[in-house]
Amino acid sequence: MTTDMKTMPGQKSVQLHARRQNAVAIGPYHVTPLYVGSAQGATIIDVDGNELIDFAGGIGMQNVGHCHPKVVQAIQEQAASSIHSCFHVMPYESYIELAEKLNEKTPGRFKKKTMFANSGAEAVENAVKIARKATGRSAVVSFERAYHGRTLMTMSLTSKVNPYKQGFGPFAPETYKLPYPYYYRATQGMLPEEVDEQILNYFEQFFLGEVAPDNVAAVIMEPVQGEGGFIVPSANFMQGVRRICDKYGIIMIADEIQTGFARTGKLFAMENYGVAADITTLSKSIAAGMPLSAITGRAELMDVPGPGQLGGTFSGSPVACAAGLAVLDVIEEENLVERAQIVGGRMMDAFRNWQDKYDIIGDVRGLGAMVAMELVTDRATKEPAKEATAKVVSECWNNGLLGLSAGIFGNVLRFLPPLVITDEQLEKGLGILEQAIATASK
Ligand SMILES: Cc1ncc(COP(=O)(O)O)c(C=O)c1O
Repeated sequence: MTTDMKTMPGQKSVQLHARRQNAVAIGPYHVTPLYVGSAQGATIIDVDGNELIDFAGGIGMQNVGHCHPKVVQAIQEQAASSIHSCFHVMPYESYIELAEKLNEKTPGRFKKKTMFANSGAEAVENAVKIARKATGRSAVVSFERAYHGRTLMTMSLTSKVNPYKQGFGPFAPETYKLPYPYYYRATQGMLPEEVDEQILNYFEQFFLGEVAPDNVAAVIMEPVQGEGGFIVPSANFMQGVRRICDKYGIIMIADEIQTGFARTGKLFAMENYGVAADITTLSKSIAAGMPLSAITGRAELMDVPGPGQLGGTFSGSPVACAAGLAVLDVIEEENLVERAQIVGGRMMDAFRNWQDKYDIIGDVRGLGAMVAMELVTDRATKEPAKEATAKVVSECWNNGLLGLSAGIFGNVLRFLPPLVITDEQLEKGLGILEQAIATASK
């Protein structure tokens, strides 16, 4: 264990990296040149014995922590009894039970139904298919800075050009983008409610100039923009979008893939706004690392596609569903919704305190334990400090802490620690982070 020394790639990681470069395509990027040996809770130990505190949580996939014993047990037991028969050939109980639980817990006091897929992108693809079929309309509206995945439709709905879209066109037709409030970068002096009003008013103009509302099947939005830089809208804005969708019969899809499952101090981030979407997409943390995503929505919409129109060979495998059921138990038994508020609260306090000390921190924001700092070279001009952000991320892992950057300008430090992180790990991680910020500020 080398917690007090620099976390340098050891011999095994160096060897693996050479093999990786020879055998694996460049496209699947990774933040560190360290290779995982094992992981538990909020700790990852690399193949050379370097120990790292995890503030990245596999990009929000490990809310219950790495290898939670209950999840491991559920996976092992299911794998020993039946790995997969394909739901389309012969179904099984765990798929139904998890669907029942998600129908009950997802926001909205209406009858819901669920289907499963494998990845976040697949969940969004299916939500769009359902919305189109149910409305008979073709257009789908997403938002500036949105991230919904890397498949053709989800890439088309995604905003950030580089690296996600560059050279991959043509994109899916009938996709449109609207502004999403970014209060920190709004016109100087504008209040959040004025920003909201300006954008909500713009919807009407957009429906005249860009696409007729009766051609819009769905508006899809992240309750907090993830890849876009942890941008949190107001409840007022979210409620305004809901009103517009209701007015024009447009389906509201909440993409809770990064915000979901206790991350924001509620089981679902939409609960923070008092708004229920018609369809919710979930993935990442629902099965603690097993490939699983869910599409949960109004029963009358979910049932429009007929038999065989939705699904897939691996979708909702018994092993993934067993993990999903265990995750729900862990969240409840370990009060992880409340824990997200405590962890996030402590991080926000530290970040605000540092903001007084380090000019490089332009903005501090977040919801629950989905927290971020936006780094700038100049607080007045808000010039994004992209290089310094990359330096903080590498300085962090170099000192035993895993963090991530995000944002359209690549200048946001974002954190999604496993919610089971201990107070001691949290404080130690914050210490490493402050040191890295102090170094980057010089
Ligand atoms: C909000 C959101 N939607 C969709 C996706 C795509 O998920 P996946 O990478 O599992 O396809 C992500 C992944 O980061 C995401 O954050």
